[in-house]
Amino acid sequence: MNKIVIAIDGYSSSGKSTMARELARRIGYVYVDSGAMYRAVTLYAIEHGMAKDGKVDSNALVAALPEIKISFEPAGADGVQHTLLNGRDVEREIRDMQVSSLVSPVAVIPEVREHLVKLQQEAGKHKGIVMDGRDIGTTVFPDAEMKVFVDASPEVRAERRLKELEAKGENVNYEEVLANIKERDHIDSTREVSPLRKASDAHVLDNDHMNHKQQMQWLLDLYNVIINE
Ligand code: DC
Repeated sequence: MNKIVIAIDGYSSSGKSTMARELARRIGYVYVDSGAMYRAVTLYAIEHGMAKDGKVDSNALVAALPEIKISFEPAGADGVQHTLLNGRDVEREIRDMQVSSLVSPVAVIPEVREHLVKLQQEAGKHKGIVMDGRDIGTTVFPDAEMKVFVDASPEVRAERRLKELEAKGENVNYEEVLANIKERDHIDSTREVSPLRKASDAHVLDNDHMNHKQQMQWLLDLYNVIINE
């Protein structure tokens, strides 16, 4: 059976990465978390003094792009694919609040996007890939055979994100998490380059009232319809 490209876009903390990762595993596809790539670049900027207090030195970061190597290590015992920044496992650090609050200003830099989009297109050139992000169905793979746009209210997403952060022992409150989500929604959907928007041919998965199993079934049903067309 011919392999296809599956693009899954949506708001932050909509649960799209979890769904995309599991879908890839179930159908034997490669999974790429494009948000992790923006997060790794952000971590690099923070560690090299190019990003702090909500501001990013874009000139310095753009000049450093050739030094930033991002790769993924296949899922290990924890079942999660780990992101490597210049060979170092940064999976945990890229998910913390410091990176989360600086990643949107990094992701608006056109040169950063161009650089990462090229790497993402390279990863998908043999198909058989599930990639999640904000602009996968619109910019990275406009010809993807299966496009999904995951939607959920900011409040539901904040609840989910709070649980994840608490599980990791981070000391944050609901208001702070909700404010971060709303702020990221705003920056992500109003930026000039590749704003977050639904591709006209994307299927909407509104998961406010769906559990994990129902969402997985929805995705597998859609995949089976498309693959058999
Ligand atoms: O999916 P995430 O929350 O891990 O993504 C982190 C940030 O990266 C998000 O605020 C927007 C940005 N991003 C992007 O601009 N384009 C993508 N394809 C993926 C993520």
